[in-house]
Amino acid sequence: MNIVIINGPNLNMLGQREKKHYGDFSYQDLVDTVKKHAAQKSVNLDVFQSNHEGEIVSKIQFSDTDGFIVNAGAYTHTSIAVRDALAAVNKPFLEVHISNVYAREHFRHKSYLSDIAEGVICGLGIYSYIAAIDYFVQKYSSV
Ligand code: DQA
Repeated sequence: MNIVIINGPNLNMLGQREKKHYGDFSYQDLVDTVKKHAAQKSVNLDVFQSNHEGEIVSKIQFSDTDGFIVNAGAYTHTSIAVRDALAAVNKPFLEVHISNVYAREHFRHKSYLSDIAEGVICGLGIYSYIAAIDYFVQKYSSV
């Protein structure tokens, strides 16, 4: 199966930004960990990161994939455009977050994605992504 991970703004800053929320692993550590896990599960994984809303929208529109794992970063809380792109392509997606957004500021409790997501995983660090991959494998893989 094919899965695309979408990482939004500032996730490239992992390892430097707000370690109390995001831990000290780098963005490259995250990419290496999810790619290794996907390979073990025979999943073709494309890992994408952008700081630009329109690039995220285009990636969603033009990906030939079975599903998305979406950490839209701050766009989670603001972007009708990312929501509309996910609704338009009509593919299953999981919303993920590294931190527990519900234990943080009130503005992070609002998501434009959650109600159209298949599920939401947050607060588990890199494992949020691993759990999302495993969910797709269990639910959709014919292997
Ligand atoms: C985040 C949580 C968001 O509120 C924040 O804007 C991020 C990262 C997370 O993975 O915990 O950039 O999506």
